Amino acid sequence: MAEQATLTLGESSYEFPVHVGTEGERAIDIRNLRTRTGYVTLDPAFGNTASCESAITFIDGERGILRYRGIPIEQFAARPNFVEVAWLLIFGHLPTQAEYDAFAGDLTAHANLDEGMKHHFEGFPRTAPPMAILSAMINALSCFHPELHELEDSDQIREAAARLISKIRTIASYAYRHSRGLPYIYPDPHLRYVQNFLHMMFSDPYRQYECDATVRDALNLLLILHADHEQNCSTSTVRMVGSSQANLFASCAAGVCALWGPLHGGANVEVLQMLEQIRRGRITPEEYVKLAKDGDSKVRLMGFGHRVYKSFDPRATILGGVAEQLLAQLGRDDPLLDIARRLEEIALEDPYFIERKLYPNVDFYSGIILRAIGIPTNMFTVMFAIGRLPGWIAHWWEQHRDTGSRIARPRQLYVGPALNETASLSS
Ligand code: CMC
Repeated sequence: MAEQATLTLGESSYEFPVHVGTEGERAIDIRNLRTRTGYVTLDPAFGNTASCESAITFIDGERGILRYRGIPIEQFAARPNFVEVAWLLIFGHLPTQAEYDAFAGDLTAHANLDEGMKHHFEGFPRTAPPMAILSAMINALSCFHPELHELEDSDQIREAAARLISKIRTIASYAYRHSRGLPYIYPDPHLRYVQNFLHMMFSDPYRQYECDATVRDALNLLLILHADHEQNCSTSTVRMVGSSQANLFASCAAGVCALWGPLHGGANVEVLQMLEQIRRGRITPEEYVKLAKDGDSKVRLMGFGHRVYKSFDPRATILGGVAEQLLAQLGRDDPLLDIARRLEEIALEDPYFIERKLYPNVDFYSGIILRAIGIPTNMFTVMFAIGRLPGWIAHWWEQHRDTGSRIARPRQLYVGPALNETASLSS
């Protein structure tokens, strides 16, 4: 017999079905709770609430497992190819050679921005945060592609996905070049995804950027490791906005805004600032960890802790290794890596972090890799967004095709003033 959960409220009891996921996870289906009992559930920050069923990504936070469409992320490390993983996430299977070639061709074909869009960059101050520009420009894409507002079949989503995944690189690099007052560099159709991005970032009209294979692989892997993480804050935002049937561009622009915050994607910037503070001698690693444990200080050990992972974050393990290899292969030394290793060592032996199960997360080492590649700190969260985009698209599309999907609309528990009909209002 299928498992049921029994809820007792006073004299009455109610049965609710239990759904079992592919990996044995159990969820009590309470979608009829209010209709049947008059009660709602209270779950601030959704720590216990599965907002949907999804077939894209599996995480086991207790065992440090992350899989995309069933494939362990470690398997992507041998021959990292971000475009292949983007396809996998969105369409559910690894691409055939023909599918890959066609998709890669679309990415090349759509890399340019409409010339009209370039004028938008000019309107932003040089000091504009690149995440603000990114969100605005992704939203602006919906003005230039009204034909992609309604997506109903896989050809249409493929076209929209290719445009977005391709153009986000161009927007990101133009945002960077605008902030430096540098001329925009057009995409080069002969270059593949990651090399083309680095070309638009770092080439000059008179000097072509030469992309090292080590850098190419490290960046491909970094983007892959950011590509999806099931119902995180920004992906849930994309799904929330998409649930109103807002178009893909508008939904992803909202995802960029959610990602920006320092508790989410913005943490990679905060980590670098924390490491820099220590490097400049303003505070020792020991003092920093002490401060992060002090509830009154408001300081956190940035790049540590995760809502879902209660043992190691497998992305951090891989990225820590990549940071070391990349620096070694480039023949460079970065004191920030030593500081990060020292902070990790102190925290992992400290009862505060052990009891709360706080481990390095994806943002702890990513900045050291980005820095070695030459990406400036204010672009770090933009790099996270480029990586996360295929995940957002996959979730938007999964929800869009779900015939049972409804507009997302949480309930609340009202705790404000009771009825007040006698207040005197100023007219
Ligand atoms: N440093 C010090 N204490 C921490 C930290 C930290 N990094 N993270 C959590 N804690 C403490 C927290 O103070 C609380 O202690 P207590 O029980 O005594 O009140 C306990 O651990 C539980 O923390 P929480 O804030 O309730 O946990 P959460 O699941 O709501 O938050 C988190 C998860 C990632 C926002 C949080 O761990 C954090 O702020 N980490 C630092 C920011 C960061 O690295 N964010 C990137 C997350 S991974 C990538 C991404 O999602 O974008």
